[in-house]
Amino acid sequence: YKEVIMAPDVMEQVLTTTAETVLARRYYLKDDAGNSLEDWKALAHRVAEAVAPEDATGKNEVTGIKQLRDDFFTMIYQLDFLPNSPCLMNAGTEIGQLSACFVLPVEDSMDGIFTAIRNGALVHKTGGGTGYSFSRIRACNASVKSTHGVASGPLSFAAVFDAATETIKQGGKRRGANMGVLRVDHPDIMAFISAKEDQDKFNNFNFSVAITDLFMAALEADKEYDLIEPSTGEVMGQLNAVEVFAKIVDLAWHNGEPGVLFIDAANRDNTTPQLGDFEATNPCGEQWLLPYESCNLGSINLGNFVKNDEVDYSRLGQIVKTATCFLDNVIDCNVFPIPEIGEMTLKTRKIGLGIMGLHDLLIQLAIPYGSEEGRLLAAEVMQFIRDRCEEQSRKLAEEKGAFPAYDAEINLYPARRNAALTSIQPTGTVSMIADCASGCEPYFSIVMMKHVMDGDRLLMVNKHFEKIAREQGFYSDDLMVKVAESGTVVGHAEIPEKWQEAFRTAQDISPEDHIRMQAILQNSGVDSSISKTINLPKTATREDVKYSYISGYKLGCKGLTVYRDGSRDDQVLNTTEQS
Ligand code: CDP
Repeated sequence: YKEVIMAPDVMEQVLTTTAETVLARRYYLKDDAGNSLEDWKALAHRVAEAVAPEDATGKNEVTGIKQLRDDFFTMIYQLDFLPNSPCLMNAGTEIGQLSACFVLPVEDSMDGIFTAIRNGALVHKTGGGTGYSFSRIRACNASVKSTHGVASGPLSFAAVFDAATETIKQGGKRRGANMGVLRVDHPDIMAFISAKEDQDKFNNFNFSVAITDLFMAALEADKEYDLIEPSTGEVMGQLNAVEVFAKIVDLAWHNGEPGVLFIDAANRDNTTPQLGDFEATNPCGEQWLLPYESCNLGSINLGNFVKNDEVDYSRLGQIVKTATCFLDNVIDCNVFPIPEIGEMTLKTRKIGLGIMGLHDLLIQLAIPYGSEEGRLLAAEVMQFIRDRCEEQSRKLAEEKGAFPAYDAEINLYPARRNAALTSIQPTGTVSMIADCASGCEPYFSIVMMKHVMDGDRLLMVNKHFEKIAREQGFYSDDLMVKVAESGTVVGHAEIPEKWQEAFRTAQDISPEDHIRMQAILQNSGVDSSISKTINLPKTATREDVKYSYISGYKLGCKGLTVYRDGSRDDQVLNTTEQS
């Protein structure tokens, strides 16, 4: 790789040991003997070069290809913006598949089901995750004409998807991830709700129930609602919404699954209804996609945008602009795993610009995550990102053309290059590289104690906490040990109240405040959806879970995931241990 000549204002980047370990294990290109051929600079260079290729057929001379490439390099190298893992891993390599998320249709036929399994395998092989709706598959025991037999139902087929994923293991780089969705009005819904009660089953899946407005109305009225056989449209029976909801809540309380997706809320925001309806999201729930759509994601590291105790909107605006060009370019240099995905993705050109390090931003401004002030600032920043992103997407449309499915008569918004712009991702691995709180989540811990050899203990202190504690004169090893042992900064007299509030972690923040943060972000510039966990204490009741789901729905969230402390042996997509 060529030596990169950095602009004079690009500082030499120092990564944390954790970041270097993660990169060396999975991201840096290696020789046959397994030695890294890259460092962070070379990787950033490889990605920038691949995404702003010299021979681009698109009209990239707008900013000039050299300038664009330098801007891409700088923003990645400085950790201001990171694209999703497949892009960091595969850009400029033979695989060349750069997207994290896909939704594949599952038709109600043997051919359809096994085509979806095959397509899913091809996606996993390149590091992507897949979402499937099983709602079109006829119910268990429904009749099968050709064999005069009875159908196996969505769940027994889901087990085949699960087994296939287990075998593929995403090319060895990360665990295959799937989302499985079933509509609440599918006749097999009760079996689906309890399918993951046994924690050894469907381990390569997150399961979510697609909840309709009709169901929510029946729930409120304590009424029955219809179950509909998808292959015939026949009403097969009725269930009481309160009882079904109680079952969902019970299981989610038990071990966090199933999650809920509010499918009608999502479809109200479908920007291309002429192409079909949303049936499913990607594995972590932040991206609603039409069948065969894929989306490439990337996140802006908000912690890098504080200057003189304020949000540095001027630099943030520039990075949003560059990131939008980057994600749009990714679509054109992407190698799609199957032709149907390429075709559909190129019609809508969706991108998922998100954020990470929201908590880092708030901490640096001494604003508590769970406060009204924190929410309002988060909303302001997200809306700013959305507005600048749209501005850039419209500019790109003028230069290169709107997304091909755009139809001014149906799509009553100005022409732009991308049918969807923003979503908030978990950033499980990229936030480790950037050393910040993941996505829009608060930090999970502030001080951790690691046991190393010979009984020695190593204190791992959050970088902001250490800096502030030292500056303000309340740092001591004793205090750090106490914080590690109690698992919280709250209640230690040595820590000024203001900092106890700013450093509240996911478990210290009330479930209401988690939901309110998700909801305000959803309503302030997030097109698609948000991957977020509503953390509940171990002592939370089923009522608390029920309240979380209902208030999330009422506040306009498009899906929710709850996690009660200690309720699962091993999380499929634990945000801190994602890859
Ligand atoms: O941080 P990173 O780019 O690795 O990914 P993320 O933000 O944690 O997850 C973004 C999306 O990548 C998820 O919603 C999935 O669609 C996909 N993913 C996957 O396919 N396999 C994983 N092990 C993790 C994430």
